[in-house]
Amino acid sequence: MSISGIKGFNDILPGDVEKWHFIETVARQVFQCNGFSEIRLPILEKTELFSRSIGDTTDIVEKEMYSFTDKGENRVTMRPEGTASVIRAFIEHKLYALDSVNKLYYMGPMFRYERPQKGRYRQFHQIGAEVLGVSDPKIDAQLLTMVKSFFDELGITEPKLEINSLGCSKCRPAYREVLKDFLREKLPLLCEDCNRRFETNPLRALDCKIPGCKEATANAPAMVEHLCLECEEHFTAVQGYLQVAGTSYSINSKMVRGLDYYTRTTFELVTGLLGAQSAVAAGGRYDGLVSELGGPELPGIGFAMGVERVALLLSEREFKRSCDLFIVTHGEKAQEKAFALMCQLQTKGVSVELDYESKSLKSQMRRADKLSARFTLIIGEEELEKGKGQLKSMANGEQQEVILDVEAIKSLLA
Ligand code: HAM
Repeated sequence: MSISGIKGFNDILPGDVEKWHFIETVARQVFQCNGFSEIRLPILEKTELFSRSIGDTTDIVEKEMYSFTDKGENRVTMRPEGTASVIRAFIEHKLYALDSVNKLYYMGPMFRYERPQKGRYRQFHQIGAEVLGVSDPKIDAQLLTMVKSFFDELGITEPKLEINSLGCSKCRPAYREVLKDFLREKLPLLCEDCNRRFETNPLRALDCKIPGCKEATANAPAMVEHLCLECEEHFTAVQGYLQVAGTSYSINSKMVRGLDYYTRTTFELVTGLLGAQSAVAAGGRYDGLVSELGGPELPGIGFAMGVERVALLLSEREFKRSCDLFIVTHGEKAQEKAFALMCQLQTKGVSVELDYESKSLKSQMRRADKLSARFTLIIGEEELEKGKGQLKSMANGEQQEVILDVEAIKSLLA
């Protein structure tokens, strides 16, 4: 019996991988223009890193982490997100001592034991970016503008930017009490999860997807109406800079986010095209996280996008791999010559294909078509004798003679 993969863990097959390359290339370009450097982080971290940063009462930490005890009796977790690891590395390697502003990006697999469905998997991939050391609202607006321009570069205009402010350690506790007062009498109408989280994490009731909870919290007081002066000024300034940058947005005062480390600005890029999984990218400010994890008092802000979700939005487009040249041969000697030319051209950066077994001309041409070859080069016995082959452009059918020499062929493929 054959062995299948694990539920929620996907293979990314040729054909799709080209789409992923495109997403990664555009992300690298856009991030580099904005001053970000790549950081590569391990997949396994101490469990404590996530419980302390994401929060003990979050769904991720309560129910979704892949945690186990390793052979050395250490509690470890396969990372459910990238931010905590970035901060851990930032503190461990004292990156703050090298520069007062650190802009870092990362790409890679994350793991959450969620119920798999379209756009939601147990191993999924994030591309994320974090800025450490800047509290100025200009950076919030720059980051949001960068995310939007990433989607523009991909040619996806669909995800809409929604922003909110979750206040700070000064104003959020008071708001929590106001919200709890509002929710207390609605408890019989709220779902089991919202009841359970009433004391520990009442804000989650605001973005609960259960219809009864949505209805009961429709008129709930909003954090944006209870911000302290500094948070209010910060949020107003973020919006001002977004307008200056020409980045369109709307305020969603019900956005809470599923991770506890957020302060002030939070945001999501949402789409209606992916069913229940509406957030393609999300993030926010986390001004207390670096010190919470044992580092200096430094502010931070970042976001991560789900690559599978971005790829789903690109699904309409063709991302077929193509080759520069397919060499069609007739006869054993021609095959030998073609093999030599292929090897030499490949070392010069030209992508070349041929049929490894001798097949009819017709079947070789079919394969050239299948591989989307830009050119074909036909070599038979006659061509070998003359030292010249027939080079054909597959785009317009034009044919010309070419000397069977690597440089001569290469110059005509441009
Ligand atoms: P998050 O909202 O948990 O935030 O995840 C960010 C994005 O990852 C989501 O918007 C979604 O596109 C994708 N995603 C999350 N879970 C899954 C899943 N099970 N399957 C497929 N895609 C998924 C964070 O992870 C924060 N670390 C973002 C951040 C960075 N905040 C500040 N800096």
